[in-house]
Amino acid sequence: MATGERRSKAPRNVEEEIRNYKKKVSEVSRRASRLNRSLKQKEREIRELQKAIEKSHEWEKQLLTLTVLSRILNSTLEHRTVRRRAMQAATELMKAEVGSLLLIDEESNRLYFEVALGDKEETVKTFHLEMGEGIAGWVAKHGEPLIVHDTQSDPRFFSEVDRKSKFTTKNVICVPVKVKEKTIGVLEAINKLGGEAFSEDDVAIFQSLADQVAVALDNARLLAEIEGLFFQTAESLADAIEKRDPYTGGHTKRVTTYSLAIGEQLNLESSDMRWLKLAAILHDIGKIGVEDRILRKTDKLDEEEYNQMKQHTLMGAEIIGHIKQLHGIIPGLKYHHEKIDGKGYPEGLADDNIPLIAKIVAVADTFDAMTSDRPYRKPLEKEKACAELRRCCGTQFDRALVDVFIKAIEIGKI
Ligand SMILES: [Fe+2]
Repeated sequence: MATGERRSKAPRNVEEEIRNYKKKVSEVSRRASRLNRSLKQKEREIRELQKAIEKSHEWEKQLLTLTVLSRILNSTLEHRTVRRRAMQAATELMKAEVGSLLLIDEESNRLYFEVALGDKEETVKTFHLEMGEGIAGWVAKHGEPLIVHDTQSDPRFFSEVDRKSKFTTKNVICVPVKVKEKTIGVLEAINKLGGEAFSEDDVAIFQSLADQVAVALDNARLLAEIEGLFFQTAESLADAIEKRDPYTGGHTKRVTTYSLAIGEQLNLESSDMRWLKLAAILHDIGKIGVEDRILRKTDKLDEEEYNQMKQHTLMGAEIIGHIKQLHGIIPGLKYHHEKIDGKGYPEGLADDNIPLIAKIVAVADTFDAMTSDRPYRKPLEKEKACAELRRCCGTQFDRALVDVFIKAIEIGKI
């Protein structure tokens, strides 16, 4: 009996154990599968986190690039430099193949390609777009940013530019450049490098760059306006003095043109060209202190009169000496009657002791005096005046300057 009971109990226990075992296996399996799901979820979360970190690194990098580019952009007030730097910044920040800045011409209400980098620049910058025409025209008209992932299939795309420049525009990001809510142009980056696409994050950071470009352009425009006003004032002043002598009409303008032609041939820096222009305009400002009877006298001046006339160089320097911002032109005013051989006035400086700006104005001033009509003599023909300049090289004038001046005449710059 006891054995039979054991026999009957054993299978039941085994079955039970098997059931229990199956239950456990099933439970373990469920847990394993839950754990697996949880692990996959964690892996997904980690991947997303890694992407977010990469993205934030990319974003931080872009922000850093934007900060650096903005500083570079705002470190100049020269309009052309600002425009070029804006293009370089757009290309670099957006990691694009090329970029361009299109500005709106207020009179025609058209957009023109201000600058476009890359080897297609020469072709591209000759294009004009009507307001609303092309992707850039659309952005300018609506004042809103735009990304076009496939330009070739976008009806707004102006394919003429590609056709003429033999360039293939694949994708574009374009943002408006606004000054006080007014759209003055658009900034474009074309063909994202590395096969990537322009993103909404790109729009935000590109718009920030465009805002910086707008500030820099506006500052440069304001400076140009102030400078323009300043030059006009200087010209009016020179004109007023010139009018006291009825025989020198237009002298200042011509001296300025000749001086700048020499400066250009010498490849002077733009800041030096500005000084030269002002010095040429105001070179005889000191004549304000010379009596009319001397200024208008057509006969030869006597010694006392000549001495008074010579004072105009010192008086000009003194007048301008009161304006700190104009100190750069004083050498031009003070020394434009000095001679290479040291026999000029007011100080008898010679050779390299005479500032370049003064030596340039001297050539321009004398050439105009020789070729202008005077009541006491006829004007010299250009060729004869040039021969006279050459004759006086080494005594009155700097030979190199006379050479570049005559070259400027020969190539039609004057
Ligand atoms: Fe003079």
